[in-house]
Amino acid sequence: MEALKNKVALVTGASRGIGKAIAHAFAREGANVAICGRKPDTLEQAARECETNCGNGLAGKVLPVVCHLGHASEIQRLVETTLREFGRVDILVNNAATNIAQKPVLQVDEAQFDKMVEINLKSAFRLIQAAAPAMCARGWGSIINIASISGLRPQYQGMLYSMTKAALIMMTKSYAQELGPSGVRVNAIAPGLIRTVLSEYYWKDPGRLEQSLARQPIRHLGEPEEVAETAVLLAGDGASYITGQVFVVDGGRLSPIDFL
Ligand SMILES: NC(=O)c1ccc[n+]([C@@H]2O[C@H](COP(=O)([O-])OP(=O)(O)OC[C@H]3O[C@@H](n4cnc5c(N)ncnc54)[C@H](OP(=O)(O)O)[C@@H]3O)[C@@H](O)[C@H]2O)c1
Repeated sequence: MEALKNKVALVTGASRGIGKAIAHAFAREGANVAICGRKPDTLEQAARECETNCGNGLAGKVLPVVCHLGHASEIQRLVETTLREFGRVDILVNNAATNIAQKPVLQVDEAQFDKMVEINLKSAFRLIQAAAPAMCARGWGSIINIASISGLRPQYQGMLYSMTKAALIMMTKSYAQELGPSGVRVNAIAPGLIRTVLSEYYWKDPGRLEQSLARQPIRHLGEPEEVAETAVLLAGDGASYITGQVFVVDGGRLSPIDFL
């Protein structure tokens, strides 16, 4: 407990799913956490739930900041609000993503291409560019980009999603190389199938879920909290010798069972 005491974290897309679980785990570990999403109601609710779940007197505060990550001005306001309320950003988690073009590659259009790049990739770039200089100046920082196993092998009819996640992984490795000497670590987490709104097509139907789980050694559907615990490890000094890595959290899905 309290692995992140006195740290300030910013977690994008934290009104539900994996981002919310990460924000709650960080607060449980003592960090003050700024969270963002587009919808004020669900964002406020996520912050209140954290106060209830982490009400042990040790937990950090959770600050909800409404932000659409597709707009540079809103990203700037998100960072400014976090700095005004908490003074700095030590830990940045680029978690929010969208998947608006799950379709055959030849049906993908330019507007979808631009939007996927803007939300899944450029927002991470903008936030790192805004937060990392001060981390470097202080000599301590941890940046975690939430990628996907779809960034490690192509998702069928998910070209834009896979492409943005693969690029996010390379962005992670590039920042890690250059920021490491200044004390800033940059890592990625690549989840497999996790129980959230984004992925419900793959797990809501019991037949489809069963088929999917049969392909992985760990036979349960991943929960957001199982990703969050990896983020806690990477965020704090327990991972002081780890940078530029991609942590696959997928129940072994990328190492399929060989029945031969
Ligand atoms: N679930 C999986 O199986 C899975 C697998 C691999 C990787 N991942 C990755 O894990 C991360 C989290 O996914 P999830 O499954 O937790 O997704 P989710 O349940 O859809 O949650 C996404 C969060 O991001 C916010 N968001 C979406 N678009 C936004 C925007 N333009 N600006 C600001 N906030 C935005 C949403 O809130 P608002 O709607 O209020 O904006 C929500 O809080 C993503 O990077 C995803 O690619 C998920």
